[in-house]
Amino acid sequence: MAILHVSEAEKKSGTVVALRGWVHRKRESGGIIFIILRDVTGLMQIAIKKDAVGKESWDAAVLAAIESSVQATGTVDKDPRSPTGYEMRANEFGLLHASEPYPITEYQSTELLLDRRHLWLRSRKMVAVMKARSYIFRYAREFLDRKGFFEITPPILTKAAGETGANLFETDFFGSKAYLTESSQLYAEAMVFSLEKVYSFAPSFRAEQSRTTKHLAEYWHLEPEMAYYNNTKSMALQERLVSHIAQRMATRHQDLLKEMGVDADLLIKIRPPFRRLSYEEALSVLNDGGFGLKWGDDFGVEHEKALTEHEEKPIFIYNWPKEIKPFYMPINPKDRRTVLCSDMQAPRGHGEIIGGSERIWKLEELVERMDEVEKTKGIKFNRQNYQWWIDLRRYGSVQHSGFGLGIERVIKWMLNLDHIRDAIPFPRMSNRLEP
Ligand code: 4AD
Ligand code: MG
Repeated sequence: MAILHVSEAEKKSGTVVALRGWVHRKRESGGIIFIILRDVTGLMQIAIKKDAVGKESWDAAVLAAIESSVQATGTVDKDPRSPTGYEMRANEFGLLHASEPYPITEYQSTELLLDRRHLWLRSRKMVAVMKARSYIFRYAREFLDRKGFFEITPPILTKAAGETGANLFETDFFGSKAYLTESSQLYAEAMVFSLEKVYSFAPSFRAEQSRTTKHLAEYWHLEPEMAYYNNTKSMALQERLVSHIAQRMATRHQDLLKEMGVDADLLIKIRPPFRRLSYEEALSVLNDGGFGLKWGDDFGVEHEKALTEHEEKPIFIYNWPKEIKPFYMPINPKDRRTVLCSDMQAPRGHGEIIGGSERIWKLEELVERMDEVEKTKGIKFNRQNYQWWIDLRRYGSVQHSGFGLGIERVIKWMLNLDHIRDAIPFPRMSNRLEP
């Protein structure tokens, strides 16, 4: 007999089918053992009646502790008394593996659940989030693939910092220093000169000391890079990408969202255009709201929250002061205090989900800007390590732009999670490297 999944078995009322999965809950009452079986598609109540099954089946049901792997054969029917809406009356029941006493019970601390993450991933919540994560990856790729992008695979071990360099994880590479990449941008830039529109979807590493609900030390970074794009065109692409993911989630995964208590109508509203505020405008909004910020100040969590808490859609904040942005961003010719870039902020205080910019594509301008950054910030680039990237500006350079989207930030926002660690199966944070 074919083994079905719970979702398929529900459509075969009245016929004998087989299921396999794990024991989610169990109780016994008057010669009947009720097991709630979990498989990837859902839950099914199995009723194993002592007089209706053989001794072997009954003994197996007795032994089947929580999280044992089991197989059951029987007739499935709608049953309003079942917590799952359906019930299988078992003819046969067997153990694939009897679980040891499961170390997770009902009320447990967050720390313990993180220590037992390898098991907690079986919880209803984590199952739902992990499915949603996979769909969000899928729709992000789907959007870019349809737009003619090529997916590229950048190296993880690098010599040159991609961003500020302040949060790099250092490692030994056969006796010389290497770093875990904090952004694949520099490598994506190299590939637009052949493939024109590319994206990498890879882990980025940030040695973030700060313990916030938005920072991971290892996160998945989607980084598109486009030849011939200015930042305005890049922003239009970003809002379409984010809207595509939101629309797909809202229209194709209503049940999943409902189970997680997420209002699909909020995601349906995510459509272009998103509101655009220059840094200058954002600064006056904040100062009108009572913050005493000076021109040039960066925004913190409380400012991001104030700007987005009443927004239904993400917003862009563009053209930031050059002092608080990386060296590769071109000066804005209309206001030389600023650079051509934008951040996308998620609604309701979920924070920055995208950082993007134009890239300096002319050699003289790049060298001049690197010199200036060294002088004003008192840092020293190891030009040797950047030579290959600077070189790209010598051989048929073109204007290009790109951006980086933190996928766990998007997951946190779209699923309205309290903490970013639940958006990734095995989170790495300053206080966690296990499991
Ligand atoms: O703003 P960031 O630092 O930009 C870059 O790395 C650019 N080189 C990207 C590019 O243009 N290709 O990071 C981009 C995004 C942020 O907007 C945020 O969503 C996410 O990466 N991010 C993090 N996500 C989780 N944990 C962290 N510690 C993160 N740091 C950044
Ligand atoms: Mg940023």
